Amino acid sequence: CLKMESKTRDTDLSEQIKATTKDIHVRAENTQLMQRYQKGQITLPQYKILLCSLYEIYKTLEEQLDKNSSHPAVAPIYFPQELSRMESLQSDLEHFFGSDWRKRVIVSAATHRYAERLRQVGRESPELLVAHAYTRYLGDLSGGQVLGKITQKSLGLSSKEGLSFFSFPGVSSPNRFKQLYRSRLDSIELTEEQRVVLLQEAVDAFEFNIQVFDDLQKMLSITGEAVQKSEDSLFKTSPMIQF
Ligand code: HEM
Repeated sequence: CLKMESKTRDTDLSEQIKATTKDIHVRAENTQLMQRYQKGQITLPQYKILLCSLYEIYKTLEEQLDKNSSHPAVAPIYFPQELSRMESLQSDLEHFFGSDWRKRVIVSAATHRYAERLRQVGRESPELLVAHAYTRYLGDLSGGQVLGKITQKSLGLSSKEGLSFFSFPGVSSPNRFKQLYRSRLDSIELTEEQRVVLLQEAVDAFEFNIQVFDDLQKMLSITGEAVQKSEDSLFKTSPMIQF
């Protein structure tokens, strides 16, 4: 019965989380940073700062997922082999910043707040990590391929070097993997209250990302036009932002 089928689907976590974050996804797409990104207007200094934030976010997310990997809500969506981004971000940072990249990573206030929330959730309500993992990893698997190509073109990179963040060697078909991920989401047992809180946490996860983008945009507009013109020289000489 079709009616039954669609009714069942409406109550699936994978459908609910997508529907609940639909509006805020549009807001995320429409941030200045994402708009510029899509137009191929991302510059190397911008991309480097973005990578720093992504590193902090994934390092924290993956630490918390690892710690809670046997939690009944986390275990079904725990795919470190397939999804883990920390190592690829490390190698990209090393590519762009050199071997002393660890000293050069700078992290905005919004990124700190996001990471702090991930740690809190990991400590206090690990099932909410599902909302954060969904928001980042399913986003990466959805837009990742296209964004990787845009990044390569915008930065004028001749090879895939520095772009490992966008490639998922452990995922042969992103679409099929997304289907698997959704079915795992749907298998998680939650009380009605936990479900409501988790859906709100997914909206918050998008909000954290938007704030990270807005922060980066602000950091970059301080340096303004000069960034566009002179690659990353401003960042190399700035005493505040050491690149
Ligand atoms: C899915 C585009 C930014 C999170 C998608 C899909 C597209 C897309 C085309 C596939 C939709 C579908 O399968 O029906 C974009 C574009 C972006 C952007 C163009 C900006 C340039 C973001 C950001 C996040 C995000 C910033 C979160 C940090 C997601 C998630 C999904 C998704 C979680 C999976 C939805 C689901 O199937 O449940 N995005 N996106 N996206 N995106 Fe984005």
